[in-house]
Amino acid sequence: MSGKTTFTMIKPDAVKAGNIGNILQMINAAGYQIIALKLTKLSPEKAGQFYAIHKDRPFYQELVEFMSSGPIVAAILKKSNAVEDFRKLIGSTNPADAAEGTIRALYASSIGENAIHGSDSDENAQIEAAFHFAQTQIFE
Ligand code: CMP
Repeated sequence: MSGKTTFTMIKPDAVKAGNIGNILQMINAAGYQIIALKLTKLSPEKAGQFYAIHKDRPFYQELVEFMSSGPIVAAILKKSNAVEDFRKLIGSTNPADAAEGTIRALYASSIGENAIHGSDSDENAQIEAAFHFAQTQIFE
């Protein structure tokens, strides 16, 4: 059993499509407590920093442009086994491979525009949460 915290972003495609409420409802129904939440917009520079780990990948420029194309919702979530269970809830990166009933199966349209991000490790959850909420009081 790993840590109690993960970090998520509802991406510009899902915000634009009006799916913030549906997705937050699925997150709550899966047992997550939302301990920080904001509607925000990443500049290309900030999106590039957030995804710097992918800077040598062929899709990096496309990813940065997409993630800075419109508002996103950033959130810190709390539950036991948070990171692993959340990745099950959102489904595979490519929605074509995402299990039925997962957030990406329901709301993503392509591997690039895939509705939602979830941290891939406890360490990255801490780094990504701090990236968006460093100056924010967290109510646990
Ligand atoms: P995310 O979980 O936010 O982490 C990295 C993102 O890169 C991933 O979701 C996808 O949106 C994006 N990504 C991964 N592979 C590709 C690809 N082949 N083409 C475009 N975007 C990709």
